[in-house]
Amino acid sequence: MSGFNFDVITLFPKAFELINNLGVITRAIDNNLINVNLHDLREFGEGCYRQVDDKPYGGGSGMVLKPGPIYEAHDSINKSSKSKTILMTPQGKVLKQKDFIRWTSLDQLIIICGQYEGFDERVRCLADEEISIGDYVLSGGEIPAITIINGVTRLLPGTLGDPNSLLDESHNNFLLEYPHYTRPLIFREMKVPDILISGNHKEISLWRKTKMYERTLLKRNDLIKMVNVSDFHQRNTDSNDNLNFYLQEENETYPDW
Ligand code: ADE
Repeated sequence: MSGFNFDVITLFPKAFELINNLGVITRAIDNNLINVNLHDLREFGEGCYRQVDDKPYGGGSGMVLKPGPIYEAHDSINKSSKSKTILMTPQGKVLKQKDFIRWTSLDQLIIICGQYEGFDERVRCLADEEISIGDYVLSGGEIPAITIINGVTRLLPGTLGDPNSLLDESHNNFLLEYPHYTRPLIFREMKVPDILISGNHKEISLWRKTKMYERTLLKRNDLIKMVNVSDFHQRNTDSNDNLNFYLQEENETYPDW
């Protein structure tokens, strides 16, 4: 099949109805840029009750997803040569924008959604990568899987109306995005900054850059390290006079987000 294939192994295929109402993804599906193929784990369940989970060896509360149905589901999927299998788990590596970018070079992501109290440890052997969407625990891997489908899809060529909108946005470069305004000029006594209506494109560009730095410092200063003025070049705008910084060393090659 042409386009990027997302093959999702899940006990709750209905959860993915959400993506039919998410502008960019819906458009990508309609334009055959992506296919979202849902593999209902229940169909691979064992016995006449199509059992997919069982009690944990060693005792304890809750049920554990059995390995058999997940392996069967995974085996049933046609794999391309540029395919990776991702296991959604809170124990995985925390998802960053750079992962989305990395995965756009593939043409298939097989996503396994965990469920209940967990899954049999042997399921991990199927995965090229274990991914968490953050340091919190959800009831299953469906919302994390939708996050991945969304994040990758919007980077695929032809998906966004205006591909330039990817260039400025937060997390694609090292800094958070600058503030945006649209009409009206004055809204509830809040006025659009004069610079944006000055028509001076050089100044506007400088202002936006400054705001990106300011915002990153203010909201995500974990990404920026303040340094001595003499060490690094000073930026030549008023509001930047005291903003001398550089990105943390590891961020200079690639931001860790
Ligand atoms: N399943 C449950 N919580 C999760 C998380 N934070 N990330 C990925 N998969 C999960």
